[in-house]
Amino acid sequence: MTTLTASQRTNEMPAPEAIDGRALRDTLGRFATGVTIVTARTEDGAPVGITANSFSSLSLDPPLILWSLALKSPSLAAFAEGRAFAVNILGHHQDALAMQFARPSDDKFEGVAQRDNAAGVPLLEGALARLECRVEFTRVAGDHLLIVGRVQAFATEEGEPLLFYQGGFQRLSA
Ligand SMILES: Cc1cc2nc3c(=O)[nH]c(=O)nc-3n(C[C@H](O)[C@H](O)[C@H](O)COP(=O)(O)O)c2cc1C
Repeated sequence: MTTLTASQRTNEMPAPEAIDGRALRDTLGRFATGVTIVTARTEDGAPVGITANSFSSLSLDPPLILWSLALKSPSLAAFAEGRAFAVNILGHHQDALAMQFARPSDDKFEGVAQRDNAAGVPLLEGALARLECRVEFTRVAGDHLLIVGRVQAFATEEGEPLLFYQGGFQRLSA
């Protein structure tokens, strides 16, 4: 185990109240991710779609994935335990769609090509892959809700992924 000196502790581990949020965002932005739109329906049947890059694989057996949703989201109730949702993994051509679902709006699905799965969850046409899930459990973590989903069905298409890095959309380059 590495023991830190007092000055290392001071320099590298500021007290939580001293953390610079902007610098933390910049640091986290050095982690390149894919981009997803998570879809679901509210209890009233309204479609829900949220651009999210917090998605990650979690477990193969049982098949679990995770992502996190800001607690301030008006769509929080759509992700209660047992509810159905889908993770649509975006292709490189879907950056405009990612922006459309990254802004609060009453009609995010305007003009979006989609179809419902058996559970009534909108699946987005043209996505690189999709995972159809049920919420296994949720847990509040800071200002987000950690959502763990059990994968029930999945599919892939050929294509290049949309990437997110340092606050902007990117493509894979050879
Ligand atoms: C690339 C990208 C990734 C994002 N990832 C997340 C995320 O993982 N969780 C989240 O709550 N919001 C995330 N957001 C912000 C939401 O997409 C945005 O707040 C959206 O308006 C949420 O929908 P709502 O207002 O209907 O809740 C992301 C935005 C972008 C552009």
